[in-house]
Amino acid sequence: MDAEYWNQKYAVDELIYTDEVNRFVKALSEPLIAAAKKPGKMIDLAGGEGRNSVWFAQQGWQAENIDFSKVALSKALKLAEERKVADLYFAHVADATGFESVLTPVDIGVIGYLQIEQPGLNEAIDCLVDNIKRGGHLIGVWHARENLDGGFGGPQNPAVLPTASEMREFLSELPLEIEILENREGQVKTKDGLKPSTTLVLLAKKL
Ligand SMILES: C[S@@+](CC[C@H](N)C(=O)[O-])C[C@H]1O[C@@H](n2cnc3c(N)ncnc32)[C@H](O)[C@@H]1O
Repeated sequence: MDAEYWNQKYAVDELIYTDEVNRFVKALSEPLIAAAKKPGKMIDLAGGEGRNSVWFAQQGWQAENIDFSKVALSKALKLAEERKVADLYFAHVADATGFESVLTPVDIGVIGYLQIEQPGLNEAIDCLVDNIKRGGHLIGVWHARENLDGGFGGPQNPAVLPTASEMREFLSELPLEIEILENREGQVKTKDGLKPSTTLVLLAKKL
């Protein structure tokens, strides 16, 4: 799915992924934000309409949302303006698999639901890790491949649904200490009510 696909998908008035920070990103970030004591810098890779990066800016952090969809980024900028944090916010059109950050090096790199095939995903994570300071953290969230087996939401192509074991094998090549890498069971809202879903979550420290 290329940038044009995403631009068309985002070309509606409402926010497709809501204006609320993702619950996994929030849970993993809050202790890091508290420990940092003063506001830091973050990259939200493939950050879409900005629900996570704008939330970081609301915590006083400088936030750079890197996404190849211009339509998503203009919606993210509008959200940052509405929340009065546009001065802390950088919307950056680039491909996740090879980018140059304006805030590098950052304290936290977030990659949320970038559901692309493994070679591209590995390049994106590699590039994100390059832009994180030593001692900083990488946070990742994906629909897990196990979600195909009775879970709801997310793409149905197994090639874009990572597993923890594949992810662990790739991450072992990078300067990272994995703190959390596991599937979490949860629920998603559907038109038929709450349904189960399986999410792969990652927290790793840059060495
Ligand atoms: C499912 S959305 C998730 C958006 C956001 N992370 C969130 O959780 O709300 C996936 C995002 O990945 C972006 N994306 C997909 N492939 C990309 C690529 N190669 N480079 C940059 N962005 C990409 C899309 O434009 C889209 O905004």
